[in-house]
Amino acid sequence: MSDVTKEQVLEALKAVQDPDLHQDIVSLGFVQDLALCNGVAKFTLELTTPACPVKDQLKAEAQQVVLALDGIDEVNVNMTAKVRTSLPAGNQLGGNVRNVIAITSGKGGVGKSTVAVNLAVALARVGARVGLLDADVYGPNVPVMMGVTGQPTGGADGKLKPLVAHGVRTISVGNMIEDGQPVMWRGPMLHRALEQFLKDVLWDELDYLLVDMPPGTGDAQLSLAQLVPLTGAVVVTMPQEVSQTDVRRAIGMCQQVKCPVIGVIENMSGEIFGHGGGEQIATTYSVPFLGSVPLNPDVRRGGDAGTPVVIADPDSESAMIFRTLAGLVAAEIAKRPADQLPVLEV
Ligand SMILES: Nc1ncnc2c1ncn2[C@@H]1O[C@H](COP(=O)(O)OP(=O)(O)O)[C@@H](O)[C@H]1O
Ligand SMILES: [Mg+2]
Repeated sequence: MSDVTKEQVLEALKAVQDPDLHQDIVSLGFVQDLALCNGVAKFTLELTTPACPVKDQLKAEAQQVVLALDGIDEVNVNMTAKVRTSLPAGNQLGGNVRNVIAITSGKGGVGKSTVAVNLAVALARVGARVGLLDADVYGPNVPVMMGVTGQPTGGADGKLKPLVAHGVRTISVGNMIEDGQPVMWRGPMLHRALEQFLKDVLWDELDYLLVDMPPGTGDAQLSLAQLVPLTGAVVVTMPQEVSQTDVRRAIGMCQQVKCPVIGVIENMSGEIFGHGGGEQIATTYSVPFLGSVPLNPDVRRGGDAGTPVVIADPDSESAMIFRTLAGLVAAEIAKRPADQLPVLEV
């Protein structure tokens, strides 16, 4: 039996392509710590996100091509991930936050918060370090939807420690005001609040900071984009919104603040509101259509109970869809550097 060399193993692994990045896993630098001993090959595959939709496929293919080599009897693949940053060095967030993703829409009630909490939880469940910033200071939903009570406490340097729920670090003005107190901040105060949430919070190392945006295309959107370089925005729409100007404005806003659009998610699709509007919008503006979330009472119940459906009922269709969407968002970000995400002409 001939001794297999590392070079031969790497050569074999070059046959495995990452379908998103259109390159082989060796050239992409995914293969690490390769060791060979008595017919056993061991190596690590370091992907660009723990939420990689083709993780299992890449692992299986890598195993298969190496096992096919004469002289290899066993293959042990260790899967890890390192999320790359899309933000310039020395940004406001202290360099610990790798990606900032705004969840936005043209108007309220379309499911931004619902999508934001479920994406956050889904990403955290696969091992990503996730933060969720509730930028809807007028109608903060994150505390209820994530089931977070209490007030964040101060840590080192007088910075606030986020409250952790379902593996996600959260900050919301809802945890800082007396119950039922209306928040009537004007533009400058809103700006300052967002600034504090970004800079004076001990986010620590985050792969993804999701920002649940307030409805519309106003001060908050402008402020956020001024305060932090955004990796991109996920635009949430309802199926019947295609004929409305709200989505168009939301996408136009992204363009105005130079925030790339990661993709469109259609929410509450089904018999009542129809379906297809989200995809049509995505096609019109040549941005990725990420998928549809059906209108389903489980989704609302999860939000009302403080346990997002991804956790409350992980085997449900809705949970599966949110997990898929989380993978697509992560893959879309990993796929290309931020400056290559489409900034739209509207
Ligand atoms: N796919 C869905 N199926 C059923 N109810 C949903 C769905 N998405 C959102 N909802 C419900 O619709 C309402 C509005 O959603 P929300 O996430 O608060 O919207 P937004 O943040 O855009 O204002 C909430 O009561 C929420 O539970
Ligand atoms: Mg909301």
